[in-house]
Amino acid sequence: MTGKIGERKKSRGFLLFLLMIILGVVAFVVVLTYTKKFVYGTGIVSKKYGDALKIAMQFFDLVNNKVIWRGDSALNDGNEEGIDLSKGMYDAGDHMKFGFPMAFTATVLSWAILEYGDQMEVVDQLQPAKESLKWITDYLVNSHPTPNQLYVQVGDPVKDHKCWDRPEDMTEKRPLKKVNPSAPGSDVAAETAAAMASASLVFKSSNLKYSSLLLSHAKELFHFANENRGSYSESIPEVEDYYNSTGYGDELLWAASWLYFASKDRKYLDFVTGEDGEKFANWETPTWFSWDDKLPGTHVLLSRLSFFGPKAAAETENMDMYRKSAEAVMCSLLPDSSSATSSRTKGGLIWVSKWHSLQQPVASAFLAVLFSDYMISSDTSKLECNSESFLPSDLRMFAMSQG
Ligand SMILES: *[C@@H]1O[C@H](CO)[C@@H](O)[C@H](O)[C@H]1NC(C)=O
Repeated sequence: MTGKIGERKKSRGFLLFLLMIILGVVAFVVVLTYTKKFVYGTGIVSKKYGDALKIAMQFFDLVNNKVIWRGDSALNDGNEEGIDLSKGMYDAGDHMKFGFPMAFTATVLSWAILEYGDQMEVVDQLQPAKESLKWITDYLVNSHPTPNQLYVQVGDPVKDHKCWDRPEDMTEKRPLKKVNPSAPGSDVAAETAAAMASASLVFKSSNLKYSSLLLSHAKELFHFANENRGSYSESIPEVEDYYNSTGYGDELLWAASWLYFASKDRKYLDFVTGEDGEKFANWETPTWFSWDDKLPGTHVLLSRLSFFGPKAAAETENMDMYRKSAEAVMCSLLPDSSSATSSRTKGGLIWVSKWHSLQQPVASAFLAVLFSDYMISSDTSKLECNSESFLPSDLRMFAMSQG
């Protein structure tokens, strides 16, 4: 039994791993230009990374499916409770729909589109990326039928993992799991809010109605997550062997940050800088950005405000702590800094854990490229790590060394 669970743990995070590869590639598609808006000017596109991006994106492209052996599956998911959960994405080689990592996948895909959409457009990948994102957010919208209820899983992982059939042929029952006020899940609900809020920004210019729908779900979900605090790992102990969440404070801050960008409502800014920020943000203590830990992503995302304003937001008390925390993450990644992490192979690859070992290097490379681009487009020439200083190009070199 444990052997089997161990086996499955190997594939845990595979979807995310693939996504992170895409993000890594997306970030490198841009070689130079950057402006301070969420969508940057068209840069010089590197063919090598552009080609890799196109190939990687096909994996997610269910809307314009070109993979001939892939067809419809799980069309009745959700039916037993009167909802349509037929979209969304499976976890990996299995047929599970795990809401927690799926929502994170959507959030990070949104982030990549928001920052590098113009460059994706140059290699004809913006539209497919938006369609893949919508395939997930359509599922997330349907998984949230009432304000305080969110379906977070489809399928029975124990049965599913014993069975190696094609999803098109599967006959197993597809049980549902949900969180609500008596079985709270602030982590999964807030991550879903982050996904919806970030995606609402992506669709704002092309589909305002859909964008508003996403934003209203995001607000409700954040409220539900915040008012009914608890981890879904405790409400649904079975998730422990799959995507256990080790805390919900990071997701609350991450969701509030995205909600601030999407709604401009100051109350979300007050949330991240006030007592919840002090309690959960773990300032200036670098960790690894992943489906379980959103803090490094939150630090980098909020550092935008200190780089680009608005001034009133940047000057909110404690806001500078997010910029400092993002800098601490960067200093830990730069191999020549005195606070460099020792979690590296001899060849310089970030190496944290033997399970899905490439997720940390790829996620770190993504954050490093983003931060170096924030520096360049705000004319910030140097990053100070203790007494040494580094250039944006040092961060980019670190990122390229991971690819
Ligand atoms: C799962 O997460 C909970 C906290 O949400 C923690 O108490 C527990 O130790 C974790 N389990 C594993 C196996 O990491």
